[in-house]
Amino acid sequence: MLDRKDNALADTSVSGEFDPELADGAFHVLDRSGVRHLLPGLNGFRLMEIMRECGVDMPENCGGSAACGTCHVYVEADWLSRLVPAREDEEAMLDQLLHTEANSRLSCQILWDATLDGLRLTLAPPEE
Ligand code: FES
Repeated sequence: MLDRKDNALADTSVSGEFDPELADGAFHVLDRSGVRHLLPGLNGFRLMEIMRECGVDMPENCGGSAACGTCHVYVEADWLSRLVPAREDEEAMLDQLLHTEANSRLSCQILWDATLDGLRLTLAPPEE
């Protein structure tokens, strides 16, 4: 779990429609440039949506229908078993990607809830 003293959301570069005061926890993302982000957890939002709205550089995508793979992330090992398992359509998309690993997930298929507080993700390399 996050130590809230060390992870004040004031350090988060939140933009768009999200109000950090509404956050219910936070998660960490290492982007494709090697920059670490601490982002607010917002109940019911897809992790892909939160990353995009908070300014994490992500390519255009399919809007969260598990059809493009641009939101591909690696989930830190300790967290993988704590996520809702991938559905068949997510597994099928991951099978088509070049850089799929055992800890791969599509961030558009993970909905935030407070049990994910402290989650750590790394954006997978682009497909080209
Ligand atoms: S946004 Fe297209 S697969 Fe996640």
